[in-house]
Amino acid sequence: MNDALTVQVQLSERSYEIVIGTGNLTAAGAFVGQRCKLTHAIVITDTNVAPLHARRVADSLGSLGARVDEEVIEAGEASKSVANADRLWQRLLQHKADRKSVVVAVGGGVIGDLAGFVAATYARGVAFVQVPTTLLAHVDSSVGGKVGVNLPDAKNMVGAFWQPLGVLIDTAVLDTLPDREYRAGLAEVVKYGVILDAEFFRYLEDRADDLAARRPDALRHVVARCCRLKADVVAQDERETIGLRAMLNYGHTFAHAIEAEAGYGEFLHGEAVAIGMLAASRLAERLGRVDRRFTERQDALLRRLKLPVAMPAMAPEVLLEAMQRDKKVAHGRLRFVLPKQMGQVELVGDVPEEDVLAVLQTA
Ligand code: NAD
Ligand code: GLY
Repeated sequence: MNDALTVQVQLSERSYEIVIGTGNLTAAGAFVGQRCKLTHAIVITDTNVAPLHARRVADSLGSLGARVDEEVIEAGEASKSVANADRLWQRLLQHKADRKSVVVAVGGGVIGDLAGFVAATYARGVAFVQVPTTLLAHVDSSVGGKVGVNLPDAKNMVGAFWQPLGVLIDTAVLDTLPDREYRAGLAEVVKYGVILDAEFFRYLEDRADDLAARRPDALRHVVARCCRLKADVVAQDERETIGLRAMLNYGHTFAHAIEAEAGYGEFLHGEAVAIGMLAASRLAERLGRVDRRFTERQDALLRRLKLPVAMPAMAPEVLLEAMQRDKKVAHGRLRFVLPKQMGQVELVGDVPEEDVLAVLQTA
């Protein structure tokens, strides 16, 4: 392990640390042991991550004398289901888990959300620790306590805010992450620059090649910066009540429509976010909020990170309809997170439909 960085999430009595290093997975036992009395841990992971990384976490927990049970869920978004939550509740009961047990989620966002939801609800809440293993989970889903499962027709519809005791990030686990998944995570990284940090966006422009090559020093810096930015948002708006946390959804209104219309699985979420960010930026251009150069900088960076930038061939009216179906999430109105300048975005309501359609036509 070298040069670990620590980011604090300030949430009064629910505050916790995110520790970011390279090769620190084998210290998982000590990490958990420092944060709770470690007697019984349930490691929840998926079929891909179990042999690659989760066993090392379980071994590390076991080496401290804890009783360790392991639950392996089929990899993939479909596993973030009520059926799996139910199955895991039953398994925890069989493992005699109680309020002194700790759930350790080792995996991407699917496992973090599912295991976190099970931890939030079993026995009215047990402790949990996040050990994220995808770039998306490193920079986004493991931080901030949103946990939950999907309903068949509504993603993330059942859930809770349940903060972990800590987040242990080992960027070396990304070595085994498929290229496409890795790049999809980079889209969320770019998002942080656009919405919150102009200097960070410039850093990404400078180090794009190092990031594409997964250079550990660049990765540690990027993961730490994104966690810092997200932690600050979460500290101010933990439950998304003042509109600040909603800024993290830049590009997502377009992205969700693209994902839904293409059929889930066609685009990875981060890929749709890359296209969605550019669409949102073009919409901001049309509304006179930013100039063309602003969109071009994002376009150039996303291309260098080998992310898709072109709107797929889909009828604009169909995409608009999909956005309107999504509108219940936004209290019945079509709203967009739109940039004002690099590092600053705003929630804009009542955007004329013809402008949205024009963007979908020209994108
Ligand atoms: P994922 O968990 O499905 O992981 C992607 C794939 O990579 C899976 O096949 C997984 O098995 C595999 N994998 C994971 N780590 C690996 C590794 N180190 N090496 C090899 N393979 C590995 O997907 P994801 O992109 O991490 O997360 C997406 C989920 O996160 C969605 O359900 C989304 O709703 C959720 N999410 C939640 C939040 C939040 O705040 N809670 C934020 C963003 C996204
Ligand atoms: N990924 C959005 C949030 O955590 O609020």
